[in-house]
Amino acid sequence: MPAITCIEDLKRLYERRVPRMFYDYTESGSWTEATFEKNCSDFHDILLKQRVAVDMSGRTTQSQMIGQDVTMPVALAPVGLTGMQSADGEIKAARAAEAFGVPFTLSTMSICSIEDVAEHTSKPFWFQVYTLKDDDFMRRLFERAKAARCSAMMITIDLQVMGQRHKDIKNGLSAPPKLTPKSVANMMTKMRWGMEMLGTKRRFFGNIVGHASGVTDPSSLSAWTAEAFDEALDWNRIREFRKIWDGPFIIKGIIDPRDAKEALNVGADAIVVSNHGGRQLDGALSSIRALPHIMDAVGDKIEVHLDGGIRSGQDVLKALALGAKGTMIGRSFVYGLGAAGEQGVTKALEIIHKELDLSMAFCGKTNVKHLDRDILMVPRPFLGDWA
Ligand code: GLV
Repeated sequence: MPAITCIEDLKRLYERRVPRMFYDYTESGSWTEATFEKNCSDFHDILLKQRVAVDMSGRTTQSQMIGQDVTMPVALAPVGLTGMQSADGEIKAARAAEAFGVPFTLSTMSICSIEDVAEHTSKPFWFQVYTLKDDDFMRRLFERAKAARCSAMMITIDLQVMGQRHKDIKNGLSAPPKLTPKSVANMMTKMRWGMEMLGTKRRFFGNIVGHASGVTDPSSLSAWTAEAFDEALDWNRIREFRKIWDGPFIIKGIIDPRDAKEALNVGADAIVVSNHGGRQLDGALSSIRALPHIMDAVGDKIEVHLDGGIRSGQDVLKALALGAKGTMIGRSFVYGLGAAGEQGVTKALEIIHKELDLSMAFCGKTNVKHLDRDILMVPRPFLGDWA
């Protein structure tokens, strides 16, 4: 493997090794992709204050997310189709997260099922649910997550309808991939991916196929969401889900402070500030820009996590300094997974950890739990003066 020193290196390798259809799935935002891009670029507008001659020994990045100990406050975000980026991808990513000491979140839209991931890991992971119309399927999904000893339920509430990602339509994205002259020609150039994929039976949406009824094409994510997802989802239904899960309950997909207050009212233990990686409402505020407003609204009453645009430990540091208790990475770990499987996910975590630790030191801080705005220079327009 060439020397890998940053997340960008993993991304380049990932692009070479994984079929275009799945690379594009990861590397897309909706419509113009403006929010997808801003999620990353807005981090660069915040600067860090360097301090010197401060005792930097004995540093620690250890913290807690929803009361669980973490090696650093960075969880793996739920990502659909992870098992198409590398054979058995969810199991590989979950194992890497477990060994590193950070939470792994399994998506409803995963390839490996809840039971399968539980069987191949030894510590509880988090489970993410989408809200489907079918109450019976939902009830069973919660029961399955409980039986698999999932240690938190994360409900994603920003995908009642799906944002349009042009590339997925053009590529005819599906799991398993449909065999067209174009997709086959491309897959032929990804030998390692193909050999590993042929060697596994996990090539379908494992939580769905065989569990949900009335789905015409269970291989197509967009057909599936359009048919099965609950467009009518409201806070009352979310409150009902809160009641049936007796463990930690995390609500993901909050960008507006008014929604953060609603999440607090339904009894969530934590919220994830997220615009779904810029894949839903194009033109929405980036997550890092939304964060200070959410902190002002509910930051002293509920645990706040940030998801979206994190490609380095410095991004993590900035989110924490703005008040987030934890962060989530999606694409950053998928790049690692596609580049080098389980080892690649470990590499992504190591890179982010090292960047976080060193940047914290340069800012004169030694404990990730004691960071504040004081280490940042946030330009005044960053917070927005919107009409
Ligand atoms: C949802 O699973 C997505 O593709 O963003």
